[in-house]
Amino acid sequence: MINVADLKKIYLLGNVEVAALRGVSLDIRKGEFVGIMGPSGSGKSTLLHQVGLLDTPSSGHILINGTDVSQLDDETRTRFRLLHLGYVFQDYALVSELTVKENVAIPAIMQGKPLAECYAAATAVLEKVGLERRLDHLVFELSGGEQQRVSIARALVNRPAIVFADEPCANLDTENSRTVLELFRAVNRDLGQTVVMVSHEPWHREYFDRIIFIRDGMMDLERIAYEGKHEGLPRQETC
Ligand SMILES: Nc1ncnc2c1ncn2[C@@H]1O[C@H](COP(=O)(O)OP(=O)(O)OP(=O)(O)O)[C@@H](O)[C@H]1O
Ligand SMILES: [Mg+2]
Repeated sequence: MINVADLKKIYLLGNVEVAALRGVSLDIRKGEFVGIMGPSGSGKSTLLHQVGLLDTPSSGHILINGTDVSQLDDETRTRFRLLHLGYVFQDYALVSELTVKENVAIPAIMQGKPLAECYAAATAVLEKVGLERRLDHLVFELSGGEQQRVSIARALVNRPAIVFADEPCANLDTENSRTVLELFRAVNRDLGQTVVMVSHEPWHREYFDRIIFIRDGMMDLERIAYEGKHEGLPRQETC
């Protein structure tokens, strides 16, 4: 489903080049729940942003369902994101002036669907995340854990092929983190949703089908091989 080949990302800070990704190649299969883990500054968010079409790589290729999406023009990229991808961020990124239902409906409305259909889809997915009694609340009336569930509902409303999540539990306590991780696992299992999640919390690994370790902008192949020897952690087969 996702094929990444020799992906590089170099940021320019004045005259200084920062090589955030130094040649990453990996494959992610349809229906996988993949964790991306590694030390702070290792390039996890950069990798997610390139593969999630939120940024353009310096070189390399990204194929999603066979389409090379690494060098799309802005308009095509935006359209591709809207049709095929969903996002969950650490800070929820909700619109505070809108209700829960309106926030979740946004990606559907942006696809140009009739409003009634968008709100029906939003309501259905909010039921799935257990927020059917919060539809008309403003988002600031919700707890952090509830707000993150709203943002997960928003990511799912268009039934995207892939959901990308960058440290979605970073602002949550353990109990709410578990709720969020279990929700991701449920949509992964029940809907076959492909999920790619960045995390640096070791205990999150029990939720993932597979972990891709990143270090210094590259796959940490030694760690992947080492972790793969442990029971219950499938070996990284695709690098
Ligand atoms: N917009 C940017 N401009 C310049 N350098 C950047 C930019 N974004 C990231 N970097 C650099 O690229 C490297 C990788 O950053 P990235 O944010 O991908 O790390 P990370 O693994 O997500 O870290 P964390 O766990 O702290 O979120 C770091 O050295 C960072 O300073
Ligand atoms: Mg990060």
